[in-house]
Amino acid sequence: MDKIRWGLLSTANINRRLIPAIRASRRGALAAVASRNKARVDSYAAQWEIPQAFASYEALLESDAVDAVYIGLPNHLHAKWAIYAMQQGKHVLCEKPFALSLAEVDEMTAVSQQTGMRLAEAFMYRHHPQTKIAGEWVRNGRLGDILLARSTFQFPLENPENIRLVPEFGGGSLWDVGVYPVSFAQFIMGAPPTWVWGDQWLGRSNVEESFSGQLHYGNDGSGRVAQISSAFRAPFYTWAEVLGTKGRLSLNRPFTGLNKGARQLLFHHPDDTVEEIPVPEKALYLGEVEDMHAAILDNRPPYLSLAETRHHVQTVLALYESARSKQAIYLTNDLSFAMGTKR
Ligand SMILES: NC(=O)c1ccc[n+]([C@@H]2O[C@H](COP(=O)([O-])OP(=O)(O)OC[C@H]3O[C@@H](n4cnc5c(N)ncnc54)[C@H](OP(=O)(O)O)[C@@H]3O)[C@@H](O)[C@H]2O)c1
Repeated sequence: MDKIRWGLLSTANINRRLIPAIRASRRGALAAVASRNKARVDSYAAQWEIPQAFASYEALLESDAVDAVYIGLPNHLHAKWAIYAMQQGKHVLCEKPFALSLAEVDEMTAVSQQTGMRLAEAFMYRHHPQTKIAGEWVRNGRLGDILLARSTFQFPLENPENIRLVPEFGGGSLWDVGVYPVSFAQFIMGAPPTWVWGDQWLGRSNVEESFSGQLHYGNDGSGRVAQISSAFRAPFYTWAEVLGTKGRLSLNRPFTGLNKGARQLLFHHPDDTVEEIPVPEKALYLGEVEDMHAAILDNRPPYLSLAETRHHVQTVLALYESARSKQAIYLTNDLSFAMGTKR
């Protein structure tokens, strides 16, 4: 096998980003799409020139038409279909949020280990040079000791029918776009937080539409903190900043910002002079596809480990629990948190 044949599970909006990435990749081909609805999948396959169309997810997964699937389903369906796909011998690139509970993450991980199928969370921005260079600056000490990482992702969600506003689908701005700042904090700090504090605002259908959180790291008295926010009720905006004892990095459009201009990475020296760090051009969604190809064909682990993914989900759950209970929440290693632990 020298090319991975991809299948799309559903006709989701987000597919329009993955389709060009798969087609632009050297070792991938788009082979099939599946939908719950036959008429929809037939017209979708014709529109996007996809060779095979399946009128159910099972039919695609039980076929020999694909080697890997991309799961862009509503959040509550990620675990179920990722597990079934791997049991049918398909590798899985699964959209964020990976799953809605740690039990789901652990089951997905166990099935990946049992079946030998590759499984990765689709955080496309983690594969972009802008993010990777920022990570290198942090790890090689250019910023000194890291004190603070902060970032935000917000956009206006107008359609009341959107899956992001359905509570039982895993709705909410933190699950949807707040996971980017949460994963950025994890990436910069190199570890999950020790404890978190969260605040939320509930909107239509009683789903959280605005979230802000503070994540505290380590027990070493270094005072390292990350601040995150997300919202469905503000103009589109993504931004990130990392502050160290030797200077500050700022990233414009760190998570997405397609068609909104170039990505910038700026180093603010201690004397407040600003230096622009060159960021090579790269199509945003290409890296996660190429990484899956390397994981499958070159037999190496995906760049984003499932341990990191587990921390992303655990941190989001802890933040929601803090917002609900109005308590600081400590993260523990098992499936529970130290619920309701006061500061
Ligand atoms: N990485 C990114 O940049 C990015 C961006 C946007 C979204 N996402 C993620 O991608 C996923 C999909 O988001 P989206 O905005 O693309 O969603 P969407 O357009 O609403 O599509 C979801 C698809 O899931 C299928 N589906 C199966 N059961 C469903 C149900 N009960 N209700 C509604 N749809 C159902 C439908 O396809 P069929 O009817 O064809 O089966 C539908 O087209 C989410 O997990 C989201 O977080 C990621």
